[in-house]
Amino acid sequence: MHATEFTTSAREEPDYRFAAVVAGLGTCLPRAEITNSWFADRLDTSDDWIRARTGIAARRRAGPDVSMTDLACAAADAALRSAGRTKVDALVLATTTPDRPCPAAAPEVAERIGQGGIPAFDVSAVCSGFLYAVATATGLLSAGLANSVLVTAAETYSRIVDPDDRSTAVLFGDGAGAVVLRRGHAWEQGALLGFDLGSDGASWDAIHVPGEREQPDGERWFTMRGRTVYLRAIERMTTSARKVMKDCAWGPDTIEALVAHQANARIIEAVAHRLGVPSEAALCEIALVGNTAAASIPLALADALDGGRLKPGFRTLLTAFGGGLTWGSAALTWPQVTPVRSEL
Ligand code: ACO
Repeated sequence: MHATEFTTSAREEPDYRFAAVVAGLGTCLPRAEITNSWFADRLDTSDDWIRARTGIAARRRAGPDVSMTDLACAAADAALRSAGRTKVDALVLATTTPDRPCPAAAPEVAERIGQGGIPAFDVSAVCSGFLYAVATATGLLSAGLANSVLVTAAETYSRIVDPDDRSTAVLFGDGAGAVVLRRGHAWEQGALLGFDLGSDGASWDAIHVPGEREQPDGERWFTMRGRTVYLRAIERMTTSARKVMKDCAWGPDTIEALVAHQANARIIEAVAHRLGVPSEAALCEIALVGNTAAASIPLALADALDGGRLKPGFRTLLTAFGGGLTWGSAALTWPQVTPVRSEL
């Protein structure tokens, strides 16, 4: 079925609500590639184990002179070029690996990409950060506070992951992705049609970096209860995506692209299977970048577009899960937008 056709009576009438519409997509990856063999030479792990258990073959790592803010600026600038715009009204940055705890990085990003003076702030929702930031930007657009918002997600997990811990070091990569959202209408291609967001603070310690009070001495590295997170990620992304599909009246077999948070190829397969989405629609773009946390969905969108696995008009379902715990989902028909890529 063509993505712009609606299937139920709820969608038969044109929908004149204001909506956020995707108008541009940009990415930035650090140039240095770290392969699985690099880890196998240093840790008790192997290329076979990493590929089989995660689907990851390589990831990018920011050099000492490249910061999270640098990656965010480059991706944001690329998204502006993709949208053919020179100005936006607000900037929301999703990250959990800021270069410094205070202040937020978004005002600096706005200044450095020639948008100084606009409202700019960070959103911290770990791997769900991009969808939380998109939902926040949608609120700014629908409330009439902005006509266009730049949403950027940038991460440098290589700075918070213990390089000697095989259970986390092999999983993460650095990178950034960004979208320009403009105020438009729900019937337009690229309009975000539904959202679901949630959190479970009782399980905050399943994924965390210890604070000074928890660990006064020694290095404070990222820790994750891998198996617990694996199961929760499948459960929460499935439930959340299902809710958005119901709200949009999209049946599983009408989904043409499922872009789930790229943490593990097996998680993506399991979510698609539980949702009943065709396996060819479950886009797995993890092999060359690993888990880039908040940046994973915009990076996956760009890779899938470049590889022809995502096309304009596709009914696209986005879903993410991460520390907090947090999760979120959104739906859109993919618009006629060409990604602009950059490297640092
Ligand atoms: N190489 C070899 N063996 C390893 C490695 C490695 N790199 N890492 C772990 N192992 C071992 C473990 O020590 C364990 O050994 P044991 O049985 O002797 O104790 C064995 O492999 C199995 O460990 P599991 O954790 O059960 O392995 P699993 O199949 O679950 O895969 C993984 C581990 C990849 C971490 C998986 O649990 C996973 O993907 N979890 C979810 C990650 C995720 O979704 N994150 C999203 C949020 S991240 C964020 O928000 C920032």
